[in-house]
Amino acid sequence: MTVIDHTTVTTTAATSAAASADATNNAPVRTLTEIVLPDAVRDAIGEQLAALPDPTTDIDLAMARYHQIFAGLPIGILQQMLDFGRHIDTAGVGYVRNLPVDRGLPDTPSDGGPSRDKASYVAEGVLLGLTGLLGEPVGFLTEKRGQLVHDVIPVAGGSMTQTNQGSTVFLNFHNDIVHDSIGRYDVSNPDFLVLSCLRADHEGVAATYYADARDISRALDAGTLETLRSPVFRLNAPGSYVREVAGGNDVLSDPVPVISGPDDSPEISVSANGVRAMTSGGQAALDRLQAACREVAHEVFLRPGQALLINNRKGLHARSQFTARYDGADRWLQRTYVRRNQWSIRYRVTPDNRRVHF
Ligand SMILES: [Fe+2]
Repeated sequence: MTVIDHTTVTTTAATSAAASADATNNAPVRTLTEIVLPDAVRDAIGEQLAALPDPTTDIDLAMARYHQIFAGLPIGILQQMLDFGRHIDTAGVGYVRNLPVDRGLPDTPSDGGPSRDKASYVAEGVLLGLTGLLGEPVGFLTEKRGQLVHDVIPVAGGSMTQTNQGSTVFLNFHNDIVHDSIGRYDVSNPDFLVLSCLRADHEGVAATYYADARDISRALDAGTLETLRSPVFRLNAPGSYVREVAGGNDVLSDPVPVISGPDDSPEISVSANGVRAMTSGGQAALDRLQAACREVAHEVFLRPGQALLINNRKGLHARSQFTARYDGADRWLQRTYVRRNQWSIRYRVTPDNRRVHF
């Protein structure tokens, strides 16, 4: 894996293993981009965010205000973030550092959040401000009850699960998909995730990984890649859906390929709750895929004031194991699900909230 040294501004990640061929000139494309705010910019944004109320009381007004604030980023940084969201040939993961933080942070909620003790909303402003540069925050009723700001916190009963509540197991490489009655789980899923760190784990060993499908494709042998590009896989619905709606039974998608699209801009779909191969060769290819992800992945140890912009179509993400103590000082991330456009998922919008979907 490619380890990111978060104490330096310059990336150490642009090794040949973690680079892809550019669509036009064959020059290497870095699949991770790093963005560091100057101190003065961090402080100016933080001051403005600290004066704002809880964004969830009027989310559209809040998003407009965040737009104003983040439009004040230095033009080079602003364009870098916008390009990340709008182009097919840009990096799949963005590591943003030196972001403002809340002055006083309450205990990490033991119930998985949200916290009822936050006195300011700087973290939420950072998360949603970055989100607004990529698209629109959206919710799904079966994921965190449709909330737009997801708290990602280890929960005692979920420590062994392949979910965002887990800690003691390695969360395999996957992207965030949502169950859909149309039979495809890779269509209405988020285009991007933003993951922002409020508090690191006690030992500081919890790592987030990102493996780009361009790097994965280069690392795989031709036969495995061909199998993964064949529609012989069925994605399982997310654990929350299986648990809460389907009585614990798997709910499998239509047969789909895991990797699809042009060679230089592939899309990859792997469900965290398991992919069922319909052939023995398919299962072997899935095993090879997880191994390839570990070979090419970027590794980031998120700290407070840092965020990851994750393209949920260009690549897969994973999380290392870590030890949760459930003592109020556990790892605390916040996350959004981001769509560039909500039009194509309007068939599942809820009547009560136009950003929340069934
Ligand atoms: Fe995830």
